[in-house]
Amino acid sequence: MSRKRVAVLISGRGSNMAALIEAAKDKTYPAEIVLVLSNRPDAGGLSTARAAGIATETVDHTTFGKDRPAFERALQAALEKHRVEIVCLAGFMRLLTADFVGRWEGRMLNIHPALLPSFKGLDTHKRALEAGVKLHGATVHFVVPEMDSGPIVAQAAVAVRDDDSEETLAARVIQVEHRIYSLALKLVAEGRVRIVAGRCRTDGAAMPDGAFLAPEA
Ligand code: GAR
Repeated sequence: MSRKRVAVLISGRGSNMAALIEAAKDKTYPAEIVLVLSNRPDAGGLSTARAAGIATETVDHTTFGKDRPAFERALQAALEKHRVEIVCLAGFMRLLTADFVGRWEGRMLNIHPALLPSFKGLDTHKRALEAGVKLHGATVHFVVPEMDSGPIVAQAAVAVRDDDSEETLAARVIQVEHRIYSLALKLVAEGRVRIVAGRCRTDGAAMPDGAFLAPEA
């Protein structure tokens, strides 16, 4: 089976993008990263992508003013130019219209730094610490028009420590982000994820039977 052609959309440093690029270096990985697209010309991830020999494009949202459809037409044109089949949002900090999301239904993933449906939106680590949760983590989900919603493909949890700061917690979460994003993209690219009644069903998934306990005393 041919590898799925994937675009990674970024706005910043692109560490998740780099993790996907790394995973896709393996020729047996079912997806190849054919494009890294940023809405910010200064996104650090663009140079990382170029250094890895990957095509990059910038569609600067500020040049479109309030004309979101025009911004998205430019995104769509770049995706079509590179014959993209799956879109991965990776720290892409623009909201997309229902129209654009609908075009990519079942073919666009996002990573969110929290265990959804908890802590949608921004500042997830700060809010998790304030709430006093003992488990926090990350989620890869299909994108739907409603922000940080949509069928969940994969999640990973980390323990929250009493002495965690936003920074230490973020550093632990980002590590699991990198692992679950490449796992989730693999499952989707292999066609093993079916959406049934708004939930993902994964063919041949090995189910861990242990419990994740925190704190362990
Ligand atoms: C990641 O933690 C990602 O989960 C988050 O932005 C960071 C991007 O880091 N995404 C969101 O908050 C989306 N609402 P990266 O550029 O190093 O991958």
